[in-house]
Amino acid sequence: MIDITQMRKEYMDKGLDKDDLDDNPLKQFELWFNQAINAQLREPNAMVLATTGKNMMPSVRTVLLKIFDEKGFVFFSNYKSKKAKDIEENPKVAVLFPWLDLDRQVKIEGTIQKISTKESLKYFLSRPKGSQLGAWVSHQSEIVTSRSLLEAKFDEIKNKFIKGEIPFPDFWGGYTIKPEVIEFWQAGTNRLHDRFVYTLQEDSSWKIERLAP
Ligand SMILES: Cc1cc2nc3c(=O)[nH]c(=O)nc-3n(C[C@H](O)[C@H](O)[C@H](O)COP(=O)(O)O)c2cc1C
Repeated sequence: MIDITQMRKEYMDKGLDKDDLDDNPLKQFELWFNQAINAQLREPNAMVLATTGKNMMPSVRTVLLKIFDEKGFVFFSNYKSKKAKDIEENPKVAVLFPWLDLDRQVKIEGTIQKISTKESLKYFLSRPKGSQLGAWVSHQSEIVTSRSLLEAKFDEIKNKFIKGEIPFPDFWGGYTIKPEVIEFWQAGTNRLHDRFVYTLQEDSSWKIERLAP
């Protein structure tokens, strides 16, 4: 067994200075996101979403960012899942992009809400048929006794919708996270990492502060 206490990486100091940052964190995110794509990171749009329901127990899982703009960060999911229940109880969430191959992470905290059915439908129609069917088959986060049951359900749904378009499931759609805090983290040498946090102000401007690593 490898001694994991001795596993550490020496970071190259790419450095991040306040002058390097855009005043608008969405623009800064776009810049880093494009760099993550150009660096051919695997699934750069994968983000770890943390929710906390009324039992106060945090829960995390990976979801895929599908849209981002001034209104927020959008992913799609099942509206009856465990995360959906947490969100109904408490709309405050956090997401993390672990762009480890770039020695970076971005953390976002904010308030989440469902997007409109019209917007969800637009995305649903753009998905491949298999994914559209998958949305119907999975009662996400419920207990299943076997994989074969899931596959039987998939075949049943496939036969049911064999002709024409696959209908839009009303228990599925997008969520948008409206950011209130966005932190950009870049590894530095000697563990002196650069951290900048943008905090949304009452007048809708963003305050930028450096944090100790
Ligand atoms: C790379 C990756 C991408 C994923 N993308 C999504 C997604 O976009 N939406 C989604 O609902 N689940 C996605 N999942 C599955 C979730 O991580 C999770 O298992 C599922 O949403 C159920 O979570 P819950 O029980 O906490 O609600 C993804 C998993 C991985 C590993």
